[in-house]
Amino acid sequence: MNIVLLGAPGAGKGTQAAKLVEKNGLCHISTGDILRAAVANQTELGQKAKRYMDAGELVPDELIIDLMKERIQQPDTQAGVIFDGFPRTTTQAVALDTMLSSLDRPLDAALLIDVAPEVIVGRLTSRRTCRVCGYIGSVADGPTCPKCGGEMYQRGDDDEATVRNRLDVYQKSTAPLVDYYKGSDKLVAIDGDRDVEVVFADVEKTLGF
Ligand code: AP5
Repeated sequence: MNIVLLGAPGAGKGTQAAKLVEKNGLCHISTGDILRAAVANQTELGQKAKRYMDAGELVPDELIIDLMKERIQQPDTQAGVIFDGFPRTTTQAVALDTMLSSLDRPLDAALLIDVAPEVIVGRLTSRRTCRVCGYIGSVADGPTCPKCGGEMYQRGDDDEATVRNRLDVYQKSTAPLVDYYKGSDKLVAIDGDRDVEVVFADVEKTLGF
């Protein structure tokens, strides 16, 4: 099963993807996670991507499409992938369709996790993430990860001004994908402004798990 998770920054894509992986064993590909690792490791990709990420702008399509072409060939993707944060532009969506059809794998659904912008600003400015296991939590978790005891940190792009720019970029460049996936009958919208477990129950029901 191949699923695109759509939604504004902070809608809960990473949170729901982690739960799908834990319970249903799908492969999770988050372009944001790949890019943050590249920045931390100071790879060529990381050096090119950093200034866009710091500003809350999109990394250029050609860099993202090249990294995804390589990632999608890896053996762990064969049983199905949750694409989290990709595609983000119509150019990326067309590229994903081409990649999947050349591998003879269908896209089963594009799930839109729908949350209002003002809810998102509050969520992202209080988000904290574990440096060790990647657990996504909030400032309420305190300085250590409730899952593994690792250090909880605040992402550099989660200050209010950058969050607001990310939301503008989402509206301009990524929101048009809603119509793109509606056009191919793949789109399912889920209300993401409910308890995490309630949203997850809806996600599972939609996907037939
Ligand atoms: P990326 O890492 O993809 O960030 P994003 O899309 O902005 O999404 P987030 O990770 O911020 O949010 P999320 O929806 O996963 O929410 P989460 O589950 O964490 O991208 C970062 C940057 O990389 C981009 O700005 C861009 O520069 C670049 N980039 C990445 N992909 C790219 C691409 N394809 N093309 C070009 N550039 C790209 O939840 C957020 C918070 O809310 C957490 O604290 C969580 O605990 C809480 N929460 C989650 N669900 C709920 C709920 N139901 N109720 C209450 N709280 C909740």
